Amino acid sequence: MARYEIKGGNPLNGTVTISGAKNAAVAILPATLLVSGKCRIENVPYISDIQAMANILYRMGAKIECPERHVLEIDCSDVQCTEPDADLVKKMRASYYLMGALLGRFGKAHVALPGGCNFASRPIDQHIKGFLALGADVDDTDEYVALQPGEEGLQGGRISLDMASVGATINIMLAACLIPGQTVIENAAKEPHIVDLANFLNTMGARISGAGTDTVKIRGVNALKGGTYAIIPDQIEAGTYMAAVTAAGGNVLVQNVIPKHMDCITSKLQEMGAKVINYDDAIRVIRTGKLRRTTVKTRPYPGFPTDMQAQICVCMSLAGGVSKLTESVYETRFFGYCTELESMGANIKISGKTATVSGVEGLRGATVCAHDLRAGAALVIAGLAAEGVTHVEHIHFIERGYESLVAKLTALGADIRRLDD
Ligand code: EPU
Repeated sequence: MARYEIKGGNPLNGTVTISGAKNAAVAILPATLLVSGKCRIENVPYISDIQAMANILYRMGAKIECPERHVLEIDCSDVQCTEPDADLVKKMRASYYLMGALLGRFGKAHVALPGGCNFASRPIDQHIKGFLALGADVDDTDEYVALQPGEEGLQGGRISLDMASVGATINIMLAACLIPGQTVIENAAKEPHIVDLANFLNTMGARISGAGTDTVKIRGVNALKGGTYAIIPDQIEAGTYMAAVTAAGGNVLVQNVIPKHMDCITSKLQEMGAKVINYDDAIRVIRTGKLRRTTVKTRPYPGFPTDMQAQICVCMSLAGGVSKLTESVYETRFFGYCTELESMGANIKISGKTATVSGVEGLRGATVCAHDLRAGAALVIAGLAAEGVTHVEHIHFIERGYESLVAKLTALGADIRRLDD
């Protein structure tokens, strides 16, 4: 099974270019189902989750071309299929966006329940609540969700989400674009990829306002037409490299980022002793001295992202003093990596939603296993900062979301190899 071998201890120096945002791309690809004509999508990350989503669309009848490495041209005009291949759907979490997109395009859908990173129970009741509010009949089983118009047909509706769910906000936006009338999502999620999806859909002719605030309004239109759109940079990939420099030391220019999206991460890394300089579309991170303890609580955007919890935990492990890390989005997320970090010498005590991280002098190389995407990225960071050799197994999780991780880190001076045995 493929793994990464990391000889730790090298500081990171140089420039790294951030790819397009995974969580925007996995929403924008299924959104092309709503468009009549060709969508040219630029800055698409070259990662396995995108290949998986493109494959699902292709098998449904979409025409897909890749004229350049980060560009996809997708034309779903001829798609007739409303039941995507269940085996493919089960391989990734974001395949649940096919529900909203197919409901919006065809008024019906039959989609297997998604797979992906199962670091917590990840219910979709809020997505279902949204589809019901739009007038859909929902057959929701342990295996699949089947949607069709209810007795009064599909029409815009008002949904107040119980929690600001990224997935539910996106799925309802997708479903509502082509449905008559106005849909209002209250307590909507505000993550940058929500705004990016809205910008993509509006570029193609949708009428969505308020994305990025907690009230999103979608006025249904008759059709969306093709066009060109470039995906925003990946907030979490950028944050991961920033955390890597903070943990391993060095001086790195992280380019192709939107510094505003990074504010919450930046301020925590600064608190810990990293020097962070913002430019228009780049951030320099410098870390030379000892790291200091901090307190972090994950929250929906604009708070500190849960998808950076594991990476900051590695920095805390190397900081002087006792840090507190509280998870408020996915309580069980610690279990994906804390035991692995402890085998590298970290000192972490978990009690409910909070991890107490007592800084240690240094981490040591070990063989560790990635249990999900971000947990895996954190173990790579730990390996970069550790003394000795680290092997990170189950790297397919990491490759779902990090483009050319080995090449990007190697260019920064890391000693990391992908072994295929
Ligand atoms: N929730 C429900 N019911 C729902 C939906 C969500 O109870 O119907 C709960 C979840 O269990 C969780 C909270 O609400 O406790 C927030 O979940 P959300 O729906 O926002 O998450 P998601 O859409 O499943 C996306 C990202 C995750 C990221 C979270 C939080 C994608 C494809 N996934 O998941 O990204 O952790 O938002 O920001 O966009 C990753 O990239 O590694 C990743 C896991």
